[in-house]
Amino acid sequence: MPEPRHLLSIADLGRDDVERILETARALDGVDRGELPAKLPTLAGRLVITLFYESSTRTSASFELAAKRLSAETMSIRSAGSSVDKGESLKDTVLTLAAYEPAAIVVRHPHVGAPWLVARSSGAAVVNAGDGTHQHPTQALLDLYTIQRAFGRFDGLHVAIVGDVLHSRVARSLIQALGLVGADVTLVGPPTLVPRSLEALGCERSSEISAIESADVVYVLRMQRERILAGANYVPSLREYTARWGVTPERLRPGQKVMHPGPMNRGVELDSRVADSKDSLVVQQVRSGLVVRMAVLHDLLAPGVRTGEIAVVA
Ligand code: NCD
Repeated sequence: MPEPRHLLSIADLGRDDVERILETARALDGVDRGELPAKLPTLAGRLVITLFYESSTRTSASFELAAKRLSAETMSIRSAGSSVDKGESLKDTVLTLAAYEPAAIVVRHPHVGAPWLVARSSGAAVVNAGDGTHQHPTQALLDLYTIQRAFGRFDGLHVAIVGDVLHSRVARSLIQALGLVGADVTLVGPPTLVPRSLEALGCERSSEISAIESADVVYVLRMQRERILAGANYVPSLREYTARWGVTPERLRPGQKVMHPGPMNRGVELDSRVADSKDSLVVQQVRSGLVVRMAVLHDLLAPGVRTGEIAVVA
């Protein structure tokens, strides 16, 4: 049996890998035809398990639907209500699930590195759906796909990422992914949430919201209340954060595109008038999530099938 391939971190990918996955997503995408992707036989008879130890709506729903659209069998396990409640370790849970011989396990966990443990303990291809504040590679890929659809290019594109970068696995993965495809990134927010150490990732940094003016895309992050409020005083109050860094219509130029990974705190980091405007790509991000996660499962589990053939079947 060949070793299974995994998607654990954007750091494991090269530009070629990213381009291949985006191309597969394009071949699968039915959005241009006004429809979601058709069901394909690619993974018939194979099992995809989603194993979520943290809350999720978009990521878990889109992985499950993506696996179903590729005709896989799916099984979704949430830590609440499973034997995790009874103290079973991640390793024992994975060894149990491995007995069903899954082709892939999609895992979200609050601890950095948990997906690597799953990869070592099961014979399945493992996809990291978010580990603590570390990585969320499929979110970065769906964001690249969304940007490519909107602009048709990456080179020279300027993306401002605004808000709680410190706690954001989305930001960490996206910064690396944008770097791979040649876009420029500026991080904007309070110095407590956009620390100087992040400059090591090769981005500009500003504590002034006016720094978003020159960006083509303003990518707004969720204020991670569960991680912020539990710890040190990163911001004096959410109200003060909104007054200085909230993304409002007044702070944007016409035509600037706005993105947010969800879930949004409307009225905190993002004004509802922006979230619902024609320049918001938020709904497109959710649609991209389905095709890109289909593309990732396809890439890991059926790498020999060419995209041209997918297009014909679709
Ligand atoms: C993100 C996550 O869970 O990392 N949400 C998502 O996957 N769409 C972002 C967040 O929780 O802020």
